[in-house]
Amino acid sequence: MTGEGTDTPRISGYGFGKVDTIVTADDVAREAALLADTAPSRDEIAALVGGPPLLTVDGLVAGYGKMEILHGIDLQIAAGQSLCLVGPNGAGKSTVLHSIYGFTRIMSGSIAMAGQDVTRLPASAKLRDAGIAYILQDNSVFPDMSVEENLWMGGYLMGASAAKAAAQRILAKYPRLAERRAQPARVLSGGERRLLEIARALVMDPKILLVDEPSIGLEPRYIDMVFEILADLQRKDGKTILMVEQNARKGLEFADLGYVLVAGRIARAGRGRDLLADPAVARLFLGG
Ligand SMILES: Nc1ncnc2c1ncn2[C@@H]1O[C@H](COP(=O)(O)OP(=O)(O)O)[C@@H](O)[C@H]1O
Ligand SMILES: [Mg+2]
Repeated sequence: MTGEGTDTPRISGYGFGKVDTIVTADDVAREAALLADTAPSRDEIAALVGGPPLLTVDGLVAGYGKMEILHGIDLQIAAGQSLCLVGPNGAGKSTVLHSIYGFTRIMSGSIAMAGQDVTRLPASAKLRDAGIAYILQDNSVFPDMSVEENLWMGGYLMGASAAKAAAQRILAKYPRLAERRAQPARVLSGGERRLLEIARALVMDPKILLVDEPSIGLEPRYIDMVFEILADLQRKDGKTILMVEQNARKGLEFADLGYVLVAGRIARAGRGRDLLADPAVARLFLGG
């Protein structure tokens, strides 16, 4: 990219709702190169979790078809921790989640849950046997099914009666959904639909939740609600949460650990609050 003159593509900052700072694509590329100078070593990544990891991603090279998107990702998260991936559009954040869940072509590297290699497990086995659940970035409720039927779908791998019992347990936890259990999902508000998506992923009682952009498309009051739901799952239920969040400030405030992903590589990793205080991260991802 040459990027001279006034034709430099302008992209909005990855900010907090309203964006005051506009950074150009060239700015991002230049800053990202600086960030890459401080890429964490494997030892630093291991030190960040402070104990035995639940999930370990080691040297992951992955992509779609022949296209390599991730060029050697190392990541660790301990049981009960939360980790947020931030970074520019197209950096490969969703692809990290896709790869862990089994939706990409893995060219090299490994993924382990509690020390067990799960690199080549198909998605269904990830969910049923390894305790990994994936919550789609896109609106994924079945609009014409009732709230309760949507929850049953979350248990399709466990058989109808077990799924219904599990759905019952979820409805007891979330009165907002229980009140609307017989209504079609399409009548729910955006925030309630997001809650239903999260709740559906809980039917299989996973250990770790992979959550792609939980705040996207939501009104501010629902964004807070969704983060509270996730905080409750982490603190009360001991769930491990690996999320991608384009609202970098929210994500890094929420998460114990933060990783900055740039062009398929981890450019920086640290405590979420330390990354928030990092000037380069602030300039690029926090709207100034
Ligand atoms: N299903 C797919 N098939 C082919 N390429 C994809 C697919 N999903 C994403 N990509 C490509 O992978 C790159 C990284 O995308 P993604 O992981 O979605 O980035 P992010 O979530 O950081 O915005 C992009 O170049 C995107 O076009
Ligand atoms: Mg994405």
